[in-house]
Amino acid sequence: MINIPKGTKDVLPSESYKWNEVERVVQVLRNKYNLHEIKTPMFEHTELFVRGVGNSTDIVNKEMYTFLDKGNRSITLKPEGTAGVARSFIENGLFNETLPLKVYYITPCFRYERPQAGRLRQHTQFGSEWFGVDSVEADAEILMLASDFYKSFGINPTVLINNLGCSECRKKYIQALKNFFEPQIKDMCPDCQKRFETNPLRILDCKVEECKAINKNAPVITDYLCDDCKNRFEELKKVLTEVGVNYKCDSMLVRGLDYYTNLIFEFVDEDKKLGQNALGGGGRYNNLVEELGGKPTPVVGFGIGIERLLLYLENKGIEIKNNQQLEVYVANATNNLIEIIKLTKVLRDNNISAEMNLTQRTLKAQFKYADKIKAKYVMVVGDDELNSNKFTIKNLEDGSQTQVDKQDLIKYFKG
Ligand code: HAM
Repeated sequence: MINIPKGTKDVLPSESYKWNEVERVVQVLRNKYNLHEIKTPMFEHTELFVRGVGNSTDIVNKEMYTFLDKGNRSITLKPEGTAGVARSFIENGLFNETLPLKVYYITPCFRYERPQAGRLRQHTQFGSEWFGVDSVEADAEILMLASDFYKSFGINPTVLINNLGCSECRKKYIQALKNFFEPQIKDMCPDCQKRFETNPLRILDCKVEECKAINKNAPVITDYLCDDCKNRFEELKKVLTEVGVNYKCDSMLVRGLDYYTNLIFEFVDEDKKLGQNALGGGGRYNNLVEELGGKPTPVVGFGIGIERLLLYLENKGIEIKNNQQLEVYVANATNNLIEIIKLTKVLRDNNISAEMNLTQRTLKAQFKYADKIKAKYVMVVGDDELNSNKFTIKNLEDGSQTQVDKQDLIKYFKG
């Protein structure tokens, strides 16, 4: 037997209703926030992620599914959604359209990571990117959107927020980090030694114990923010409190992607039951579009892991309601196939979910099956029923039985 590749998962028919519910919630938010869907390819030229996500990140260095195609081009399965959307924004001249442009996507992402609970090699993200706005309002609204998404499932996870500052504050902060790490970098892991050269900010995200101990005393960005950045962050916090976004400031928060400027955030599992802490994350990236060859365009966005959301709900004992129920099972006690197919069709044409017997089962076995698939009603169709135009309908939920005239069937089921 051939098994599923490590770190991937089937969504089985018995659980796909949960995914349907996620998609339904996204559609509701699409309307409420006036978002537009964007679909970009599953794979891109490798260079997009090297330049976009950044070649000092673990994602680019260790986790990409990269291969040469038959034309000898280096291709990578998308490890995240943002870079492809930014490429599309530039390539399709979307900056010429009315801004802000608020897009969303639900996409599989591929990362060659060590699989464990909540960490997959193929995962799915619901993401949203807002192009062409650089304001406290946009920062607040993107957090409200993500927060509304979680609230739709009855949860309100904490969002950790931090401010990486503008390029001026960051320049000063990175210098302070370099001064701090320089005397002790030789005691840090080989990855951090590389990060010291390429992007010292990334050292703060290291999971190696020795490095974590050193990081505890590192300078914090909040001490290096200019007045504008400080004021804006304070303003944002005020708005978030007013609108009920459950946030906490975390000046040590860094993100695993290089494109961020200013605001960064991460929705976290406070109980740490997921194995992986982050339920979703994002932030502002005001330089990416320009770095990829477009006109300077500020953007803010997030990506939310759907598998992690479902695992989190499961851990919390929160069930997603299965809204799919078969209304009518049409049981077959006649050889008149045409009539039974036509009757089932009439039900469906009137938007009533209906399934007819497709097997050689006895009537008793058909009732058993209808019960098993949790149909609401069974309608028996035999020769007597077809002759008299009166049908016996059994309500499987309360066991009652009713005779209904053919002409009243639709009214009865819709009633
Ligand atoms: P990210 O933090 O790398 O950000 O991923 C976003 C979310 O995807 C994570 O918080 C997590 O829920 C989920 N996730 C990531 N990796 C895995 C994995 N291996 N298995 C399961 N779930 C995973 C981004 O990707 C950015 N593009 C987000 C963004 C959009 N920033 C601005 N706009």
